[in-house]
Formats: sequence, structure tokens, C-alpha cells
Amino acid sequence: MTELKNDVFLRALLKQEVEYTPVWMMRQAGRYLPEYRATRAQAGDFLSLCKNTELATEVTIQPLERFDLDAAILFSDILTIPDAMGLGLYFAEGEGPKFERPVRTEADVLALEVMDMHKLQYVTDAVSSIRKALNGRVPLIGFSGSPFTLACYMIEGGSSKEFRTIKTMMYQRPDLLHRVLDVLADSVIVYLNTQIDAGAQAVQIFDTWGGVLSETAYQNFSLRYMQKIVAGLKRESEGRQVPVIVFTKGGGLWLEKMADIGADALGLDWTVNLSQAKARVGDKVALQGNFDPFALFGTPELIESEVARILAEFGTGSGHVFNLGHGINQFTHPEHAKILIDSVHQLSRAYHD
Ligand code: CP3
Repeated sequence: MTELKNDVFLRALLKQEVEYTPVWMMRQAGRYLPEYRATRAQAGDFLSLCKNTELATEVTIQPLERFDLDAAILFSDILTIPDAMGLGLYFAEGEGPKFERPVRTEADVLALEVMDMHKLQYVTDAVSSIRKALNGRVPLIGFSGSPFTLACYMIEGGSSKEFRTIKTMMYQRPDLLHRVLDVLADSVIVYLNTQIDAGAQAVQIFDTWGGVLSETAYQNFSLRYMQKIVAGLKRESEGRQVPVIVFTKGGGLWLEKMADIGADALGLDWTVNLSQAKARVGDKVALQGNFDPFALFGTPELIESEVARILAEFGTGSGHVFNLGHGINQFTHPEHAKILIDSVHQLSRAYHD
């Protein structure tokens, strides 16, 4: 077992003392980097890249070679689970993800089963391979989609603006949606525990679409299933705690409830004031966020002043991981990402002894 040289990210998630605020970026490996586009071209397409151990390892490491990041995140996608369930995932150029066989009818719902983990061996292989390549440089984050977010893609058949199909099921046949979410929660538990066994040192649950629900529906159809997952996860591996981060985009109104499900940290989008969020969750969880990814389209001075504002809002003490409030946009200038990361490191020292 290689010793971890930089554990600032893991310590901040557990609210332990740190010398500076750690930083990583959602979607840090991706199309805004020319070296990523070159490797993807070599793989052919995005899914082939995810399934190629060597190339998936290479693109995971790429942002760490450019920037002083405090964590790496597994290069993969949340839709690997429904793909392994046999829904036929494909990416239509410029249109985002799509499924050949979406889940629409009662028969479709009853046919769903927890995926066979052998079909996701490529994810486990990528985790082991990335850990080797990192050689203790920074911790590796594993991840999964939340059951509700996965169900959105599986039922809509792809991306959606209104979520008409899944909401129709939710209001007409809640029993069917609950069955989908149950199977997904069980699948996510197996999937994340397998990633932890293979070497993931923290895990994040991406609930990209929970924020489109009413408060009651959020609790019943999204939060409840994330609570079930958190309760089913291995929380220790290699003699260290494995922190769990729950990120609901648009979840800012429900932080108190989210802080109660047993996760170590909550991800925040940019709509929340960090000082108020900190007061609302108290000592229960650490916070991750909350820079608007489009502020990276501002000048270097603007980026620095936004970083300064966010660090000041969190104030002193541990329990903050700096991140974007959502994934980095593909048209972002890589040099601007560097300004963000370096200013987090420089400016945050003043808030730590
Ligand atoms: O953060 C990282 O660097 C790790 C890799 C990662 C990807 N997707 C790679 C990816 C992670 C953590 C995800 C999560 C993911 N995937 C989410 C949750 C987070 C979020 O952004 O809301 C969702 C909803 C998906 C589903 C998905 N995958 C969509 C909607 C798309 C198309 C969006 C787009 O930007 O075009 C993808 C494709 C995808 N996943 C890309 C990458 C780098 C772009 C693929 C390409 O190279 O063309």
C-alpha cells in the first residue's frame, strides 16, 4: 500500500484540521482540455474511452499534470449502471446520452434487476489502474448517480428539460417509480462498494436532477434512496475512513434534511450563500462548492475575487472543499481553471493556522 502524500481533501471532508482549502473540479477531465480531446479521438468515442483501462487512466491524470488539484476523480459516467442493466446507452453527437430501450411500461419496470457487476468490470479495472498511476499523489474519488437522477435518464430515454415522462409516472404510478428507485439504490450500493474495494478513497453521489422536484417529492423519491445508499456503504478501507459526498443540484432549500442522512459532506451549487449554509448544517457535515462554473468565463481578476468571496463566506475552520457548483463547461479556457485552483490555495491559507 503506497502512502498518501496529500490527504488534505480527505481531512477537510471529515472536518479535520487542514493548512489550506483543498480544491478539485467536477468534470475536471473533459473536453475543455485539448489533451483530453486527443485521447478521446484515439479511443474513438466517449464510451470506448470509459471502457479502455489505459486511456481512462490517462485522462483521469491529465488535469493533475496541468493543475495543482487535491483529488482525482475516476473517469467514467453515471450512466454505466443503466447501460449494464441492458438499456443500450449511446451518445448521439451533440445531443448527449440516449437509451435504445428506455423504461416506460409496467413490464419494463418489472423486468429491471440489479446489474451484474461483471458487466462493470471495466470500472473496477479503471479504479485499480488509476490508483497505481496516482502512486499516492492525491486521493481518488469514486462516484455514482443518485437513483432519482439515473431514473430520469432511464425513463425519459435521454436528457430532458421538463421531465414529463418521469413526473407522469411519479404522479400516476408512484409504485412503479419506487420499484425502479429501489433496484437502483441496491445497484448503487454494490457499485460504490466495489469501487471502494478497488481503491476509491472517497465517493460522491451525483443527484443532478433532484432539484426539479417539490420538497415532498424530493424527500420521497430522491433523498430517501440516497439515505438508503449511505447506510449501505463501506465507510472504511485501507485503515482510513471513506467519506461520502451527496450533491443535489438545486438542493439549497433542503440542506437541513440532507445533512441528516448520514453523509460526511454536501455538495452545493452556486445559488447558496456558503456562510448561511454552514450555519444551517452546523457540525453535521462538511460543505463542497460553490463557484459558478461560468464565472470562469470572466477575467482573471473576476475569478480571483469570486474565489476570495467564497472563501470569506465560509470563513475560518475546516470542513470546506472548494469546487465548482456543477461541471466545468467545455468552452472554458484551461488557463482560467489554473487561476481558480492557484488562488484557492494562496488565499485560503489566511483562514487556517
Ligand atoms: O468529473 C470528472 O472528471 C469525472 C467524469 C464524469 C463524467 N460524467 C465524464 C463525462 C462524471 C463524474 C460524470 C457524471 C455525470 N454524467 C453526470 C452527473 C454530473 C453532472 O454533470 O450533472 C451526468 C448527469 C452524466 C450524464 C452525462 N454524461 C451527460 C448528460 C453527458 C453529456 C453532457 C455533455 O457535456 O455533453 C455525458 C457525457 C460525458 N461524461 C462527457 C464527459 C467528459 C463528455 C463526453 C465527451 O467527451 O463528449
